[in-house]
Amino acid sequence: MADFRIYHETKLGQMYLGDTLEVLPTCFEEKSVDLIMTSPPFGLIRKKDYGNVDSTEYVDWFKPFAEQFKRVLKDNGSLVIDIGGSWIPGQPTRSLYHFKLLIMLCEEFGFHLAQEFFWWNPSKLPTPAEWVNVRRIRVKDAVNCVWWLSPTPWPRAENRRILQPYSDSMNELLKNGYKAKLRPSGHDISDKFSVNNGASIPPNLLAIPNTESNSYYLRYCKEHDLEAHPARFPSELPEFFIRMLTDPGDFVVDPFGGSCVTGEVSERTNRRWACIELSEDYLKGSLARFDKELSEPPKRYPISYKLIKPGALWNGQQYDPLDPEGGKKRKKKTKNKDS
Ligand SMILES: C[S@@+](CC[C@H](N)C(=O)[O-])C[C@H]1O[C@@H](n2cnc3c(N)ncnc32)[C@H](O)[C@@H]1O
Repeated sequence: MADFRIYHETKLGQMYLGDTLEVLPTCFEEKSVDLIMTSPPFGLIRKKDYGNVDSTEYVDWFKPFAEQFKRVLKDNGSLVIDIGGSWIPGQPTRSLYHFKLLIMLCEEFGFHLAQEFFWWNPSKLPTPAEWVNVRRIRVKDAVNCVWWLSPTPWPRAENRRILQPYSDSMNELLKNGYKAKLRPSGHDISDKFSVNNGASIPPNLLAIPNTESNSYYLRYCKEHDLEAHPARFPSELPEFFIRMLTDPGDFVVDPFGGSCVTGEVSERTNRRWACIELSEDYLKGSLARFDKELSEPPKRYPISYKLIKPGALWNGQQYDPLDPEGGKKRKKKTKNKDS
């Protein structure tokens, strides 16, 4: 007997309680899905005695999912994976697991990398504190990689649906005019560059703060004594890809559904959807997202982030020479000029 069930259903979608490796092979037809939008667990990495992160183990764990994703996706569909990097425990270096995952998906399962994105969360705290705040030998890790993959090199996509306002400097150029010329890089910047199209094409750096604090979902979890999902992505992230890569009526699946953010955005944007999640506790809270009477659409703030030039505060002052040991030993705190 199948060990999963439909936990909740709406006009457009289903929330499944169960293991994706059972639900996908049983309920989903070959080439039936337009977009898989997901954020898999990042922390599934067993720590070895010597403190290393075993990326092979993560990649092996992912393979049966990859096989199902490939089977259910349409040829012109997309697989979008939001995945955070991780530090090797005990040393200031990074695991390669998410890069190995990407290479495995392309080389073993024949996915194509349509484009890599970076989700920058400007509100991320500086961690690990030991390397960033105490020894000052690394910087804040504030981006997740988002791999946009497709079974063929030609996934359906349209960037006019996710335009953004012009930057201040572009508005300035549009106002004052731009002299057409050949840039030192060899790019020929023609007159067309100064045509005001009303909005600009976004880059593959997505600035989205993850600062949800008073949403209906969170209030619902609190009122019902439920644990809010600890690793939610902000709804703007799936919304960006759902708008760019699918049409209304298309079918969007999140195989690591969590609190069903992907389902909520799909419902609001009129896409059919399915979210699959192992933990009933997380699904209990996600019912809030489909409580039509009470839930409200997310508030949209016209926030833009200033990208400050790195090192802009450097003023030519000389500091102590760099530690030849790369910060291996903690130093006694000295009164520093650049704290
Ligand atoms: C990073 S979270 C996803 C969070 C989600 N994007 C959100 O915003 O709420 C990954 C989820 O995958 C679920 N999961 C892990 N293995 C699974 C499996 N085999 N089948 C279904 N869900 C699984 C975990 O329980 C966890 O809730």
